Amino acid sequence: MTRLTRADLDALPAYVAGRNVADLARDLGLTEAIKLASNEVPYGPLPGVPEAIAEAARTVHRYPDMGVVALRDKLADRYGVRPDRIVTGCGSVALAETLAKATCLPGDEIVHAWRSFEAYPIIATGAGATGVRVPNTAGHGHDLSAMADAITDRTRLVIVCNPNNPTGTSVRRAELDRFLAQVPDDVLVVLDEAYREFVTDEQVPDALETYGDRPNVVVLRTMSKAWGLAGLRMGFLVAQPEVAATIRKVVTPFSTNLLAQAAALAALDAEDEVTRRCAVIIAERDRVTEALRKLQLEVPASQANFVWLPLGDRAAAFGAACESRGVIVRAFQPEGVRVTIGTPEENDAFLAAAEQALA
Ligand SMILES: Cc1ncc(COP(=O)(O)O)c(C=O)c1O
Repeated sequence: MTRLTRADLDALPAYVAGRNVADLARDLGLTEAIKLASNEVPYGPLPGVPEAIAEAARTVHRYPDMGVVALRDKLADRYGVRPDRIVTGCGSVALAETLAKATCLPGDEIVHAWRSFEAYPIIATGAGATGVRVPNTAGHGHDLSAMADAITDRTRLVIVCNPNNPTGTSVRRAELDRFLAQVPDDVLVVLDEAYREFVTDEQVPDALETYGDRPNVVVLRTMSKAWGLAGLRMGFLVAQPEVAATIRKVVTPFSTNLLAQAAALAALDAEDEVTRRCAVIIAERDRVTEALRKLQLEVPASQANFVWLPLGDRAAAFGAACESRGVIVRAFQPEGVRVTIGTPEENDAFLAAAEQALA
């Protein structure tokens, strides 16, 4: 057969999205199932967001503002950086792709931890680069000294996921300081802080505040999680102006769509509610962690809105057992299972399913 696509993509695992909740409920004959598989916040859109979307919907026959000026200005104000340092995109995952495109030529390397966000190897291969996976420590966190050692002359990008998806672990300031001092000046370091709003450990630095001014650091943030806009796709990065300008050249035009821009502007006006929701999630994260430890499970301390169960090759069976009880979790066979923190009722349902699954 004539080959029409790149042969190296055959070996690439497809991105696995969480199972559809309505399908599972139907299959199990339940009125509803619970999805704790995609790290969303369960409390609906933020106040003011649906109205802003409805208003913006009246002009969707027009292209959005390609410069994303109003939103970048507002983000700049909120995060205390100049607007020319901000690039927005169709989710932060698209910005990670753009970063790979902006830094790597075929054969160049992207160093990242493993297991970490499953999109990283896909992004590396998609860009024609080589993804270099550095195994996590025994404590399920980034091995930053091994990551520094993995940097070669071909390395263009290093990604640090803090807190790490899916293990929930985080790296602290002293470790990161040491690591950043070891990275050559011509290698871009991406600090992916998709879950920053859930961090409570004061020793885990806010990368924007602590490292934002370093020339080779890019901070990646998303509005999909704490800000409740997963379905609209809105992420942003903060880089030095020259780096941001180059990234803007290769980002897909108009990829921060009209509704996403309007919704993000409205969401930024509802930060008090974000803070309130995150506090509930954080309290629940600690409660769920404790309950799981009482079931004799190892649960690394999480700084995100999910917990990690390093069940090894029991991961798939545990995931299937939870699913058969109407709770969708995310199994990464043969490493572990990631469980998103939901509402207190959803978490109770998961804990009951977990207890039965282990019995
Ligand atoms: C670590 C990390 N980075 C980035 C993303 C992508 O977020 P989005 O593309 O929705 O902004 C995710 C989503 O799960 C994530 O876990």
